Amino acid sequence: MALVKRGDTFDPGRVRLALGAPFSLVSTAMNDVLELAGVSVVRGSKTLLDGVDWQVKEGERWVIMGPNGAGKTTLLQIAGARMHPTRGVAGILDEVMGAVDVFELRPRIGLASASLAAQIPEHETVLNVVVTASYGVTGRWREQYEKLDVRRAFHLLDAWGMSTFMNRPFATLSEGERKRVQIARALMTDPELLLLDEPAAGLDLAGREDLIRRLSELAADEESPAIVLVTHHLEEVPPGFTHAMLMRDGGVVSAGAIADVLVEEHLSNAFDLPLEVTNRDGRYSAVART
Ligand SMILES: Nc1ncnc2c1ncn2[C@@H]1O[C@H](COP(=O)(O)OP(=O)(O)O)[C@@H](O)[C@H]1O
Ligand SMILES: [Mg+2]
Repeated sequence: MALVKRGDTFDPGRVRLALGAPFSLVSTAMNDVLELAGVSVVRGSKTLLDGVDWQVKEGERWVIMGPNGAGKTTLLQIAGARMHPTRGVAGILDEVMGAVDVFELRPRIGLASASLAAQIPEHETVLNVVVTASYGVTGRWREQYEKLDVRRAFHLLDAWGMSTFMNRPFATLSEGERKRVQIARALMTDPELLLLDEPAAGLDLAGREDLIRRLSELAADEESPAIVLVTHHLEEVPPGFTHAMLMRDGGVVSAGAIADVLVEEHLSNAFDLPLEVTNRDGRYSAVART
């Protein structure tokens, strides 16, 4: 994907010139899943994201960390084609936000977040929560698709240990069960990018460990899409994740290979607190330095 200069205001005409009509971005051996250049999001007098540059390539598994209000959810909204940058350019799956029909782009991106979960009607069955994710991309040959969709939803629920719950109302599930159903839903459209906003929030210790193990297995599977996981806790980083970004005040403190980023210096800086960081067999943890 061609780079657009940092700080540029998005202008489809200019991007077309920069990228070559008709928006067919230059492919490399490792395709870019995300390419953000100087992305800012401003709401009123508040800058939610401040000139973020970020590249995610196929096969990468990213963890995003930072204190409350750092801009993590906003960044995922941009990456999920749910929000446009105020300034800068967001390239998503070889398309450019503003020059693409987001309703065609969104099914290529799986997203699980608390705000999406809150939109699920109380009596929706578990199977329906997953199968309805495909409605955006089906339409013609509806009946035939429905059978395939239901089969795929069942297999995904099975893979996430939830097939026996398929007829239960979503609202009756435990928090851990809900999280697994939401991830199955996010995978329903066979996305090229999977975005998970704090999937371990609210889980008990066993639920957290179960989820981390499953996410670690997902990360290890070559067939899995590129993954971006937002978390508050270093303990929740699944082994096998390859990259990390630390955010603070809407900006990027550090981004790159996970072993270079999740270190005391950068983490202490991001959280504005001197931290002691350990890594045992791929499991990280942090405590305040005394
Ligand atoms: N529509 C909005 N208008 C003004 N401020 C907002 C809006 N949405 C989010 N914010 C603020 O932007 C900051 C970043 O939010 P968010 O991306 O949710 O952070 P994080 O997920 O890292 O906790 C927060 O301070 C939040 O209150
Ligand atoms: Mg958030």
